Amino acid sequence: MSKLVICDHPLIQHKLTYIRNKDTNTKDFRELVDEVATLMAYEITREIPLETIKVQTPVAETDAKVVSGRMLGLIPILRAGLGMVDGILKLIPSAKVGHIGLARDHETLQPKEYYINLPTDAPNRLLIVIDPMLATGGSAIAAINSLKQRSCDQIKLMCLIAAPEGVKAFQDAHPDIDIYIAALDERLNEKGYIVPGLGDAGDRMFGTN
Ligand code: PRP
Ligand code: URA
Repeated sequence: MSKLVICDHPLIQHKLTYIRNKDTNTKDFRELVDEVATLMAYEITREIPLETIKVQTPVAETDAKVVSGRMLGLIPILRAGLGMVDGILKLIPSAKVGHIGLARDHETLQPKEYYINLPTDAPNRLLIVIDPMLATGGSAIAAINSLKQRSCDQIKLMCLIAAPEGVKAFQDAHPDIDIYIAALDERLNEKGYIVPGLGDAGDRMFGTN
């Protein structure tokens, strides 16, 4: 079974509180999501391999560590996942970025794919699928189905907030994929929103509703 990692660093939890607050305006919401994405990127890259190279300091030559060329790809789920991309690129500027467009039907809660564009070498990369919300899990499951159909099999999922129902559905569908979240909330409501959650992530990020 895959890992469920809750990134409980105090700075992440502090910023998440302001992200949740309904009175946080669009500009602050976007900035806070960007900052939390950067902090979560530390946790999700914890296991990437290092190699040893020689480096000459002003004092002596020494063995020192560098990331061993592991190629990464970020796959935001449109729209709301876009808001976490720049925060991760601050730490991993060489990552390529692909996009998957999915929209949840408000009645059926089923996701519909309307766009996909991946780096040509995506199957050779460790892909981080990004979406602030794991609610029913339908969108994340569909996104990873699409990636697996295209021969991508090194994948991690990064979300801000998850519902227990979404985690279970996701782990049943993709038991091989690790999930990184900042908070595991109580439940879904009858409209498929996470409780307490943060509301509609895309609308809050882009000022729509
Ligand atoms: C939201 C969110 C996730 C999805 C989660 O997107 O950003 O992609 O819902 O719900 P699920 O786990 O039940 O599938 P939405 O479909 O509202 O699209 P948007 O980002 O364009 O607003
Ligand atoms: N999508 C959102 O944006 N928010 C939720 O709470 C659930 C799905």
